[in-house]
Amino acid sequence: MRTRLVAGNWKMHGSRASIQALLGSILAGLGDAGGAECAVCVPYPYLQLVAERLKGTRIAWGAQNVSEHAQGAYTGEVSAAMLAELGCKYALVGHSERRQLYGETDAQVAAKFAAAHGAGLTPILCVGETLAEREAGRTEQVVGRQLDAVLNSSPFENAVLAYEPVWAIGTGRNATPEQAQAVHAFLRTKVPSETCILYGGSMKAANAAGLLAMPDIDGGLIGGASLAAEEFLAILRAAGSKRVTT
Ligand code: PGA
Repeated sequence: MRTRLVAGNWKMHGSRASIQALLGSILAGLGDAGGAECAVCVPYPYLQLVAERLKGTRIAWGAQNVSEHAQGAYTGEVSAAMLAELGCKYALVGHSERRQLYGETDAQVAAKFAAAHGAGLTPILCVGETLAEREAGRTEQVVGRQLDAVLNSSPFENAVLAYEPVWAIGTGRNATPEQAQAVHAFLRTKVPSETCILYGGSMKAANAAGLLAMPDIDGGLIGGASLAAEEFLAILRAAGSKRVTT
C-alpha cells in the first residue's frame, strides 16, 4: 500500500486575498474530492496565514525550498526548524527551477534533504531531465544521478519523490502516461517500495486520470493548476482514495 498525495506548488504567486479565496474554495469542495492526501507548498511569507487557515483541516502545508544550514549568517535563507515551527509537513527540495535558476547542485540538494529530514519535515525530492537530455537518451542517467546524490547521504524514508520532466513544467506539455510510467518504474527500483512517487509537469484536470492510472504514479505535484480551486479539486477527485494498492 502506498499513500496517494496531491501537492500544489504555488511558486511565486498569490496575495493574502487570493490565498484566502483559493483556500476557501478548495475547503468548500473538499467533501466530495475523494480521500487522497493533499497539501499546498506556499511562499514563505504566507505560511503563517496558511497554517492558521488549514489547521484542523485535511490539507497539509509546506514550503518550496529550505536551507541546508541549521542556522547562522545566511541572509535570506529559511531553516528547516523554522518551517517545522510553522507547522509545515513538507518541503520541496531540488525543484528544477531551484536547480536551473539558482544553481542548486546535487550536493546542495542532498544537504537540503538531510536538513529537512533532521527537522522532522517530509522532503519532496524533485528530479527530472531537460528536453535535450531526454532527446539524447539520458533520462535515466540524469534522474538516477539526482536521486543517488540524496541516497548516498540519507536514507530515503519519510520522504516523497517527484518526477518532474523539465520540458513539461509550466509548458502545457505533459509527459504521456507511458513516458512518465517508464521513469517512475525506474525510480521505483531505487527507493523503498512504500515510497510515494508523484508526477509533476503540466498535470491538470484533463490529464490527471490518465497519469494516475499508471501503476507507479502515486499522485501529482501541481504547479499552475493548483492555483485554480476547480482544477485542484478535480485532480484530487482523479486521485481517488488515500491509498493505492500495489
Ligand atoms: P506545472 O508545474 O504543473 O505548472 O507544470 C509543476 C511544478 O513545477 O511543480
